[in-house]
Amino acid sequence: MDFWDVLIAIHLLGMAFFVGGQLVLAAVLVPVLKGKPEMKEAAKRFGQASIVALVLIILSGIYLASHYHQWGSHTLWAKLVLLVILFALMAYHVKEGQKRWIDPVLGTISLVIVILGVALAN
Ligand code: HEM
Repeated sequence: MDFWDVLIAIHLLGMAFFVGGQLVLAAVLVPVLKGKPEMKEAAKRFGQASIVALVLIILSGIYLASHYHQWGSHTLWAKLVLLVILFALMAYHVKEGQKRWIDPVLGTISLVIVILGVALAN
C-alpha cells in the first residue's frame, strides 16, 4: 500500500458519498418524506455535504490523473465534460428546486461518470 492507494480510496469515498447519497435520497428519503419540510432540509444538507465530497473527488482526481499520466486519455476528458454538465445542471437545480425531471438526469450522469472512472482505473 502506498500514498496513491490512499488517494484512490479518498476518490472512491467521495464518489460513494456523492453517488450513493443520490441513490439513498431517491430510494429512501423521497418516498418517505415527500412534501414534508424534513425532505427539503435533508436535500439541503446533502447538497452542502456534497460540496465537500466533490472538492475531495476533484483534488484527488487531479493528483491521480497527473501521477498516472492520464491527461491525454479520452475517457478522462469524457468524464470531465460530463462533470461540467453535472455542475451546470446542479446549479440550475439549486435555482429551480421544483424541477423534478432533473434528479434522474443528475443520477444517470453521475453513474456514467462512475463507469468512466472504473474504465480509467489502473
Ligand atoms: C463526480 C465525479 C467523479 C466520480 C464519480 C469519479 C469516479 C471514479 C471511479 C469510480 C474511479 C475508479 C477508481 C478505481 O476503481 O480505482 C475513478 C478513477 C479515476 N478518476 Fe475519478 N471520478 C470523478 C471525478 C474525477 C475528476 C474530476 C478527475 C480528474 C480531474 C478524476 C480522475 C480520475 C483518475 C485519473 C482515475 C484513475 C485512477 C487510477 O488510475 O487508478 N476523477 N474515478
